[in-house]
Amino acid sequence: MNPEHIREIIDHHEGGKKAGIIPILEDIQSQYSYLPEEALRIVAEKTGRSLVDIYGVASFYKAFSLKPRGKHLISICLGTACHVRGGLRIAEEFERQLKIKPGETTKDKEITLETVNCLGACALGPIVTVDGRYFSNVVSPKVREIIHKARTGLDRVDIKTDERIFPVEVACPRCNHSLMDRHHYIDGYPSIRVTVSFEFKHGWVRLSCLYGSYSVDSEYKIPDGVITNFFCPHCHAELIGASECMTCGAPMVPMLVRGEGGMIQICSRRGCKGHRLDLT
Ligand code: FES
Repeated sequence: MNPEHIREIIDHHEGGKKAGIIPILEDIQSQYSYLPEEALRIVAEKTGRSLVDIYGVASFYKAFSLKPRGKHLISICLGTACHVRGGLRIAEEFERQLKIKPGETTKDKEITLETVNCLGACALGPIVTVDGRYFSNVVSPKVREIIHKARTGLDRVDIKTDERIFPVEVACPRCNHSLMDRHHYIDGYPSIRVTVSFEFKHGWVRLSCLYGSYSVDSEYKIPDGVITNFFCPHCHAELIGASECMTCGAPMVPMLVRGEGGMIQICSRRGCKGHRLDLT
């Protein structure tokens, strides 16, 4: 670990003055795959916070790891819905093929395996995520292919053929008016149009309706790490739910899913990928 590099990351986030320390920790983790103790000491020293506070945040959120992780993280959901659909069998198959237990990393330092309680897409279980990308309805014969995809890199996503991403039609949970904008397409599908406000600015944002895609188009550039307030463009109600993002703790933004029924929730922090989908 290079201490200078950690200091640069903290400077890039202006010492956490604007968006707090979570974006700093996210950047460090994305560079080193975990949060080294020395890095946390530097964060405490440079941001003027106590080491206890920094550890508190780093150990509270499951997205952060204090132990070295492999390059890729495979998470298997063993929440109730996934468990009854065979999640345990899937976990055992991953353990058998990777020759590691949950919490361990393969010898080549490529893959860390973990089990989690709910990934927010219960109706599509068993759910497995690789570096935050969802695989739904996973069955044992698919395990080998998922491991192969994890090793060869998931960043090369083809939105036309990738079964991990799929379109949703959404509506305002207050007035039930559709939020789909059929005049503006993103990723080849009608976009989701809402209004947002942040840092005294107010304007439109269009989001990809593909669950698993994070493409976005907006009137104003929203800086990474900034928490944004979302509003329905029809009834102007604020789209704000009771829950917080499991990744960064920011408020979640709920929208009704049409057709399938259920709710999609996206994290209100720009750049955070802590989205969740609950179909009924
Ligand atoms: S129980 Fe697995 S996604 Fe909810």
